[in-house]
Amino acid sequence: MSKETFDPTKYNASGNEPFSSVLEKTILRRTFLKGGAAMSALAMFSAFGLGACAVKKPATTNLRQAVKLGFDSIAGSKTDAVTVAKGYTTQVLAPWGTPLNNKAAAWKDDGTNTATDQANAVGMHHDGMKFFPLNNSSIDGLLCVNHEYIDTDALHFDGAERNAEFVRKEINAHGVSVIRIQLNGNDWEVVANDPHNRRFTGATEMAIAGPMAKNSLLITPFAPNGDKTRGTLNNCGNGYNPWGTYLTCEESWPGYFVADEASMTEDQRRIGISALDAGGRYNWHDQAGVAAEKAGEFSRFNVTPSGNSASQDYRNEANGQGYVVEIDPYDPGSVATKRTALGRFRHEGCVFGKLEEGKPIAFYSGHDARFEYIYRFVSDANWKAADADRSDRLEVGAKYMDKGTLYVARFSADSVGEWLALTPSTVTKNGSTLGAEIGSLSEIIINTAGAADLVGATPMDRPEWTAVDPISGTVYLTLTNNTRRTEANIANPRVDNPFGHIIRWDETGATSFNWDIFVFGSPANGDVQTNRSELTQLNQFASPDGLVFDDRGIMWIQTDNGADEIEAYTNDQMLAVIPANLVDANGEQQVLSSANQAQLKRFFVGPNDCEITGLTYTPDHTSFFANVQHPSNWPSSMNAATQTPKGTTVRPRAATVVIRKINGEDVGV
Ligand code: FEO
Ligand code: CA
Ligand code: CA
Repeated sequence: MSKETFDPTKYNASGNEPFSSVLEKTILRRTFLKGGAAMSALAMFSAFGLGACAVKKPATTNLRQAVKLGFDSIAGSKTDAVTVAKGYTTQVLAPWGTPLNNKAAAWKDDGTNTATDQANAVGMHHDGMKFFPLNNSSIDGLLCVNHEYIDTDALHFDGAERNAEFVRKEINAHGVSVIRIQLNGNDWEVVANDPHNRRFTGATEMAIAGPMAKNSLLITPFAPNGDKTRGTLNNCGNGYNPWGTYLTCEESWPGYFVADEASMTEDQRRIGISALDAGGRYNWHDQAGVAAEKAGEFSRFNVTPSGNSASQDYRNEANGQGYVVEIDPYDPGSVATKRTALGRFRHEGCVFGKLEEGKPIAFYSGHDARFEYIYRFVSDANWKAADADRSDRLEVGAKYMDKGTLYVARFSADSVGEWLALTPSTVTKNGSTLGAEIGSLSEIIINTAGAADLVGATPMDRPEWTAVDPISGTVYLTLTNNTRRTEANIANPRVDNPFGHIIRWDETGATSFNWDIFVFGSPANGDVQTNRSELTQLNQFASPDGLVFDDRGIMWIQTDNGADEIEAYTNDQMLAVIPANLVDANGEQQVLSSANQAQLKRFFVGPNDCEITGLTYTPDHTSFFANVQHPSNWPSSMNAATQTPKGTTVRPRAATVVIRKINGEDVGV
């Protein structure tokens, strides 16, 4: 999401130790261990600035890979065009409004496409995505794309009247697109009318699976048995499963719902459902009761109880949002399924940890809001590699994602951490149990963040995407920024710190891990307390958000910048680094520092006012796909690098950008 739309409210009132203070203690201790207790404060800053935080257990084998980044870091850019490393081409693919079938009219640049057009065309504000090859092809496949939110000015024509059609168009521009794409010559094309093409919108019927299935908290007039709900909202980061399904994650959905403040439940307050008086994010509830309303399609966004029971009003409607949703892109008749066992919060993304035959699968997911937490779900079922080839993919999803244990992370000051189970028997900070303080597992899931408060999880600086190094198994997570920090300290020395960092951890036991900070975002000219990774003009960045490892071990970092210092130099960007190659002679993993920072390279820069998010690639690595979200005056051509001519204003369209080498060889190396 852009900084303009981020909800700055602090929802966590738990008083759990802020991450900043844990980090401060850790760094102080590490510094003392390294340098002795007599070190001066200035020396401590300097030591840390030189990378003294690199305390990881030595790897058992040297991780260094033969693969190397094969491009030179590019300068920043501030134009209405994308820029990319030398030797590459870029193409605009599947921009907002691209018809997927004949029910949609061609996209019109005056904003007059209808709600029906929008339900049958690519949605707005592309975010996380994944390429699913057909028959293992690298020239033919299904692109699953999240559509996080909408630019209402661009969506509607000038003077459009706010009515049922208007709001339906907004609801239909949300969700997910499944798009058949093929490489034809040098260009990727959308295959219109392909039977795989689908839209999931903010109104599509979806199944509820896991602990919340058929639960009374999911009963609505639409779902008297509590087994289904309508729509997926604010689909930001993503994931996928080894068995060929897509995971779309519901991020900042709470603000879409309103409730009379006096009626709000504890979980609604904790997660941040909008107050009716203050208004919701898009106020879709304001069309409740209009003559054109069908089946409560607008009424459902007001969750204030008004009837005698849950089957008579929409008090439970928001309980159908906040999940990881599994989609089988290969089966056009399949029903999107909400995997509720993974918790209910602002899921930024969801990735599985390193797979081991006969061991449970771990799934990681951050909660993107200030001072929120990092979660892990561990399956009851043990991984069987043969399941990757099954054709009943959503049944495989049920096997690994509907039964298991949800945990939340606590980071401790000695580079170790602990996963705290969110189950009724877990002992809380007060010496009670979650069962006594919240209730059953389903009540804990509905109020996941409230349960995490009670067990003493560590509040973080806006957890965004997670990615797992395929070589080391180390898990990396972007902490995008936290401009509400009120205490400066050695780890977050700016009271208003917009730069963010990337944390990582290795699992060391069933519920324990080791962690450190891989890189700190910073302007190149930041002082020693700010520029701890000693970034230069060629790799300075702020607000890391999208984070993807490719299967060669290249980590791609995408930004959603909120820092003026970086914005003055460049638009949002994508950088690359190979962490497995940042090891010392003993195979110990290193953090980014002055000694190795040049290995972090800027690869791609987006057009003005956009963020770069979502990354996927073909199995042969010759086509990479990245998303440009909320550009202000782009694209003016299907060549993504074409600058919108000066004096020309285009209706902005989020789009996928295909990145290929001019010579057709592998991208990045
Ligand atoms: Fe939608 Fe957390 O970015
Ligand atoms: Ca973001
Ligand atoms: Ca994001």
